[in-house]
Amino acid sequence: MTDKKATLAVDGLDSPIELPMYSGTVGPDVIDVRALTGKGYFTYDPGFVSTASCESKITYIDGGKGMLLHRGYSIEDLAENSDYLETCFLLLHGELPSQDEYEEFVDIIRNHTMVHESIARFFRGFHYDSHPMAMMCGIVGALSAFYHDSLDINNPRHRLISAHRLIAKMPTLAAMCYKHSQGQPFMYPDNKLSYSENFLHMMFGTPCDDPKVSPTLARAMDKIFLLHADHEQNASTSTVRLAGSSGANPFACIASGIATLWGPAHGGANEAVLTMLNEIGDEKNIDKFVARAKDKDDPFRLMGFGHRVYKNFDPRAKVMKETCDEVLGELGLEDDPLLKIAKRLEKIALEDEYFVEKKLYPNVDFYSGIIMKAIGIPTDMFTVIFATGRTVGWIAHWHEMLTDGYRIGRPRQLYTGEAPRKLASRESRPASQKSSF
Ligand code: CMC
Repeated sequence: MTDKKATLAVDGLDSPIELPMYSGTVGPDVIDVRALTGKGYFTYDPGFVSTASCESKITYIDGGKGMLLHRGYSIEDLAENSDYLETCFLLLHGELPSQDEYEEFVDIIRNHTMVHESIARFFRGFHYDSHPMAMMCGIVGALSAFYHDSLDINNPRHRLISAHRLIAKMPTLAAMCYKHSQGQPFMYPDNKLSYSENFLHMMFGTPCDDPKVSPTLARAMDKIFLLHADHEQNASTSTVRLAGSSGANPFACIASGIATLWGPAHGGANEAVLTMLNEIGDEKNIDKFVARAKDKDDPFRLMGFGHRVYKNFDPRAKVMKETCDEVLGELGLEDDPLLKIAKRLEKIALEDEYFVEKKLYPNVDFYSGIIMKAIGIPTDMFTVIFATGRTVGWIAHWHEMLTDGYRIGRPRQLYTGEAPRKLASRESRPASQKSSF
């Protein structure tokens, strides 16, 4: 809070409106516009480009500086010196764990990795070629039908149990989506393994052949989860908060986040990157696609480039690029034709005037898509993995909202439809007046 005020002169009002201003720890001051409603005005901000929808202490992004902090720690520091589960603890509890707290947390998550046996039967209801994100939306929402012993959102213990269950069960459910599409038996988690090793074991192991998980690939997986853990008020997190503001249960809220993440402008981008690379197909076609991306009359965009907030570089992409080089080196895939197209595209986008001028750098999804392709994860599973990593961020925001005090989210609108009018009888109406859908 500061003593600063903003003064807004409004046509038609005799005196200007005074609005309070607040300062965060870092970042721009915000103007509290809540008093405007009482004066008969709304603010108009489609896409929420200038609107802070809440106060939060979890994550800070400075897009101009390419800075991403979780509870004050830089993403580079966490990626180098921490791991995914420790970062989960940090996001949920506000501080890094002591050694004992860390061990206890890892143990708790381990205890929750299995899912109710009936969930396996639930999976069998999905068609074999269902998109894994479609299954995830349904399955995670359905968890509230299996774990309704702790759904009281006003009970802190219930909230914590649901948080642990979600973090622990997401890799199991993600791997079950894959196994279902392959017609292979589901693999039970092996609790001797780390979080990321366990995920790879459930993905690629079978009851008759359970290959040893490569430490480099498990490390890469852990980085992918960690780098996606939270990203302040993005579309899916805002959706989770909005759903939570109605008092919905945590599994329903996280399912709404998964649905939002699915879109190609958000989490679906890593899948879209690989679809695009396949569409380009050959290095000789790259220039044609780059020209299309620059053409104002062509809706085509280079997937994996650009970001709403990062306008200089995406700090997650820097870490992911290093991991990408490590994984490609370990797997000896530097000459893979698709990955060669990706490398050429990256170089062009970093040098081409259009991309440089508009600050369209490769984002985290560009590199994570390449890594997952190299590991052998099918393209349609990419967003599921993003959702797995992001689950902790969604829960941390949901929990913060519930504990900080909240009102149901209810945006207003600038109405430009018809003024009040009377209904004419059907016989007297013109043949057709409908607008296209
Ligand atoms: N390829 C070509 N041109 C682009 C691209 C692109 N990937 N991204 C933006 N532009 C152009 C756009 O046409 C516009 O040009 P002009 O000013 O001439 O009209 C300008 O750059 C600004 O674009 P915008 O759509 O106003 O920017 P935005 O902040 O609303 O959108 C974005 C950000 C990420 C949706 C967009 O860059 C995009 O569609 N990128 C591809 C999809 C993608 O990789 N998404 C993953 C984002 S990272 C994961 C996450 O955090 O969710």
